[in-house]
Amino acid sequence: MDSIVVTGGGPLKGEIPIAGAKNACLALMPATILSDEPLTLTNAPRLSDIKTMTTLLQSLGAEASRLQDGQVLTMSSHALTSAHADYEIVRKMRASNLVLGPLVARMGHAEVSLPGGCAIGARPMDLHIHGLEKLGAEIDLRDGYLHAKAPKGLKGAMIDLDFASVGATENIVMAATLAKGTTVITNAAREPEIVDLVRCLRAMGAQIEGEGSDRIEVQGVDRLSGATHRVVTDRIELGTYMLAPAIAGGEVECLGGTLELVQSFVDRIERAGVSVKETSRGLMVSRTSERLSAVDVTTEPFPGFPTDLQAQLMAMLCTADGVSTLNETIFENRFMHAPELTRMGAEIDVQGGTATVTGVEKLRGAPVMATDLRASVSLILAGLAAEGETVVSRVYHLDRGYEHVVRKLEHVGARIERVKA
Ligand code: UD1
Repeated sequence: MDSIVVTGGGPLKGEIPIAGAKNACLALMPATILSDEPLTLTNAPRLSDIKTMTTLLQSLGAEASRLQDGQVLTMSSHALTSAHADYEIVRKMRASNLVLGPLVARMGHAEVSLPGGCAIGARPMDLHIHGLEKLGAEIDLRDGYLHAKAPKGLKGAMIDLDFASVGATENIVMAATLAKGTTVITNAAREPEIVDLVRCLRAMGAQIEGEGSDRIEVQGVDRLSGATHRVVTDRIELGTYMLAPAIAGGEVECLGGTLELVQSFVDRIERAGVSVKETSRGLMVSRTSERLSAVDVTTEPFPGFPTDLQAQLMAMLCTADGVSTLNETIFENRFMHAPELTRMGAEIDVQGGTATVTGVEKLRGAPVMATDLRASVSLILAGLAAEGETVVSRVYHLDRGYEHVVRKLEHVGARIERVKA
């Protein structure tokens, strides 16, 4: 298995282009199921998760291909042949569950495997199921698959989500576009990826209002058409690269970044001593002080601090002056990066959903590995300013969410290379 070797140094200088959002793209792609006309996505990121979604759509009979250096995705569902999302594909990626709503809405039925380790009614699909049942789908669990049917079509409904789940909001909005009548989702998720999905659906002819607020109203239509849509900038990739100069020193311009995508994150890092300025091309980030200060952070649904940037921020706080507290409220057990950072000399105490980080002067390079995407990149960030060499293994996690991570960091002066196994 490949590994990434980072040799600590700095400062960094230059620019990093930010790709289209993985999480937006993974919700936009299943929208093709809702129409028999072509859907084209531009600014699509070149990632293995996008490949997995492509394979899933193709397994349903959709056409899906990449053009122009991989950044344009064209899809067509004019001849869907199956409504069966197989375990072999779904188990690789939780976002596969986003085909459920579109399939029931277009085909009147669907069989979608649950991702491993989940039971109906419990995490992580209960909110999706509850919402689609409100729209009139009958759903039961057999043989590890959700079997959903709505032979007479879906009907608009009032749906109040117990938690502002991103995926549940996306599944319900997509299904409601073809339901009869009006659907109102309250306590809807407000993430930019949902706003992006709604804009695309609207370009396809859907009637939707309220995206970006916690109340989304969908007026069902008989059919949707094709569209061409540009995928929104990846705010998590943006935040990740903003932390590179914050950790290693220097000045980096993140091209395509905007403040509105990362406001709560910017508030925190500015408080720690990082400078962020909007430019005509993106966000210019630099470290103004020799050493950053500790800050406290609680992860929350958007517009709060994103859970997907918690691991990367922890990497920064390991060498900040003082004691920082990180509260993780979205996912249980999302501190798997803490023991690895500890191996690099960090002082971190994890108690349940809270991590307390006592800043040290410097981290030291070490062989490390991570069990998820954001944790992996946090170890690379930590390695940028650590003494000596950090070897990050299990690189396939990174390929799921960061295109050309080595090239992008090398371009701003980091000493980083991918070593083939
Ligand atoms: C999306 C993002 C993920 C991000 C997360 C939170 C994609 C592809 N992934 O994931 O990167 O970390 O939002 O911002 O967009 N839950 C339930 N029942 C449900 C659904 C969710 O209990 O039916 C729980 C989950 O277990 C989790 C929390 O709600 O603890 C947040 O999940 P959700 O907002 O649905 O995240 P995802 O859409 O899976």
